[in-house]
Amino acid sequence: MAAKRSIIIDTDPGIDDALAIFLACASPEFDIRAITTVAGNVGINRTTRNALQLTELAGRVSIPVHRGADRPLRGSWTTIEDIHGQNGLGDIDLPAPSRTEFSTAAVDALIALLSDAAADSMTLVLIGPQTNLALALQRKPAIANAIREIAVMGGTLEPEGGNATRFAEFNIHVDPVAADIVLKAGRPMIWAPLEVARQASVDALWIDLLRAVSRPCTVAAAGMLDFYLRSFARPTAALYDPLTILALLMPELFELRSAALEIDVSEGETAGQTRFRLSDGDGQVRVAATCHADRVRTVLLERLAAL
Ligand code: RIB
Ligand code: CA
Repeated sequence: MAAKRSIIIDTDPGIDDALAIFLACASPEFDIRAITTVAGNVGINRTTRNALQLTELAGRVSIPVHRGADRPLRGSWTTIEDIHGQNGLGDIDLPAPSRTEFSTAAVDALIALLSDAAADSMTLVLIGPQTNLALALQRKPAIANAIREIAVMGGTLEPEGGNATRFAEFNIHVDPVAADIVLKAGRPMIWAPLEVARQASVDALWIDLLRAVSRPCTVAAAGMLDFYLRSFARPTAALYDPLTILALLMPELFELRSAALEIDVSEGETAGQTRFRLSDGDGQVRVAATCHADRVRTVLLERLAAL
């Protein structure tokens, strides 16, 4: 097997975050160096507790969890318990965590891990508001040298395809200033916008196949998705965050396009809009424009079933 990819997952669990964390834990291609939490779907106390519970359920208590930012760099945001439940995990009950988060805060942990890492050796997986990495880059810009790639769940290809507002996707809308700071660090990036996840949405049958595996993580994931599907109020639901992980694992399942990217950091109605300009040349970022939806759903099921 090729050398493992060292990753740090920055996350606001969150039901789709939970599946992304499970998928990463089920993937031997990764060396998960740490999980850093951020406020987003629900508050920081919940996202941090959820990260502890999810890694424990996946049998990975050795993964350090570091508590991160409890608010965006600018202004405020609204949590979305209507989509993720009061506890952030579809209000299912998980065993209380047997450990606490590390005393080192997320920003300090990011700076320490990246400062000690070799050049171009660490992959950042950002599946929530990007506040933690932005703060770390502001405090110590040189840590960017250690970043091999940044995989982002965020943004929209369509100018008015947002889910937080007509114009903006939730993660970028919560903290557009942070996303712009991360973008301007100039490291290789791969973005998985709303549209590509919507292509590979799952339905009640897929959730039941997951539940039928009857292992702790698959039963828990299915229970969370029952809530998540109801919140979408339609027959299918998009699993945003896991696709960001999958784009790293199996890029061949995606149509990856080069693009120039501009993030709207205004405070107007278009705040958080991501303006991708697709190109055939060497763009600033790569963006997953489409995917092989059936293969994505199959691989997700297979990998989660292995947990
Ligand atoms: O817009 C979808 C994103 O916002 C996902 O990361 C979801 O978990 C929420 O954080
Ligand atoms: Ca998320």
